[in-house]
Amino acid sequence: MSKKIILLGYMGCGKSTIGAHIATSLSLPFQDLDVFIAEQEGKSIPEIFQEKGEIYFRRQEQEHLKRLLALPYPMVVALGGGTPCYGKVMELVREATPYSFYLQLPAKELVARLSLQQEQRPLITGIAKENLEEFVNIHLFERAAFYTQAAFVIPCLGLSVEEIGEKIRQKIK
Ligand code: S3P
Repeated sequence: MSKKIILLGYMGCGKSTIGAHIATSLSLPFQDLDVFIAEQEGKSIPEIFQEKGEIYFRRQEQEHLKRLLALPYPMVVALGGGTPCYGKVMELVREATPYSFYLQLPAKELVARLSLQQEQRPLITGIAKENLEEFVNIHLFERAAFYTQAAFVIPCLGLSVEEIGEKIRQKIK
């Protein structure tokens, strides 16, 4: 297996946890794109949003992803929730590897997870708890068109990290 494994999906779907798990099980390096951006920029993601704005973040996100995709060795990469939805990211991903995976969860489950961790996520920090479900429903609907361009869609509801990891490994030759 010489290609990169790319995980994508909405905030809270488990990209980072599952990415780290798969990387360990396949003895590959793991990179979380948000962590990479924060390291490169010397700021946290909320700080980048606050100080430089979302457009700046989206540009940086794409540039840093290109740098990761250009690395000449296999690795597991977890994208940010919005990464696939701007510019030509899904085209870049599909050109770079046959192994892109959309970790799919229903909005209700995402809301349950995200309501416990709104502060770290600038896009939902300011949303009142009672409006979060409507926001996620609409946002997920808009983004699904990008996410479903992944080579594989993995329905994750009710599955453990190990079970999801196994489903992903089964697709990799
Ligand atoms: C974002 C998701 C975040 C992070 C940023 C924007 C989004 O990543 O990139 O806050 O647009 O959905 P996670 O999906 O890892 O939370």
